[in-house]
Amino acid sequence: MSHSPNPHAEPLPTDQELVLKVIPMPADCNANGDIFGGWVMAQVDLAGAVLPARHARGRFATIAVNEFIFKHPVKVGDILSFFSRVQRIGNTSITVQVEVFAERFSSQGEYMKVTEATLTYVAIDKDGKPRAIPKD
Ligand SMILES: CC(C)(COP(=O)(O)OP(=O)(O)OC[C@H]1O[C@@H](n2cnc3c(N)ncnc32)[C@H](O)[C@@H]1OP(=O)(O)O)[C@@H](O)C(=O)NCCC(=O)NCCS
Repeated sequence: MSHSPNPHAEPLPTDQELVLKVIPMPADCNANGDIFGGWVMAQVDLAGAVLPARHARGRFATIAVNEFIFKHPVKVGDILSFFSRVQRIGNTSITVQVEVFAERFSSQGEYMKVTEATLTYVAIDKDGKPRAIPKD
């Protein structure tokens, strides 16, 4: 059987860090049989928190999902790779970009960007109030 090249396949980013890999399971599906968008959003929130954790050095919380784009559906058995980079460090907040690439079950080694998002996290103190991001 001939292997048809995926027109959406693209190289993985080299200017971002791999922060999470996960494989969705049948329990994560929506009524269409694709993966539920809310499950993807939860994984993106976790992946997006990895780089801010290095800077916040303490408690922090998600304050905003500034943008979230589902470019292609995610399927059961896809190997998902989450790449992230810091976009902006403010006084108390850190904004990151997250890009999600799927390696389809039947096309190992080919990557398709399925989701991209921008999220902002805020460092918080013991009372849950914003605190400054450490500078050093
Ligand atoms: C996080 C929280 C303590 C921030 O308090 P706040 O009084 O709303 O925050 P502020 O208005 O002082 O803004 C804090 C920072 O967030 C940024 N910010 C506020 N609203 C924002 C928005 N809609 N988008 C992006 N950044 C935003 C501000 O610019 C500021 O950044 P800076 O200090 O780097 O300039 C509070 O909003 C909160 O507790 N939210 C709930 C968090 C939560 O439960 N998250 C989900 C589970 S983790």
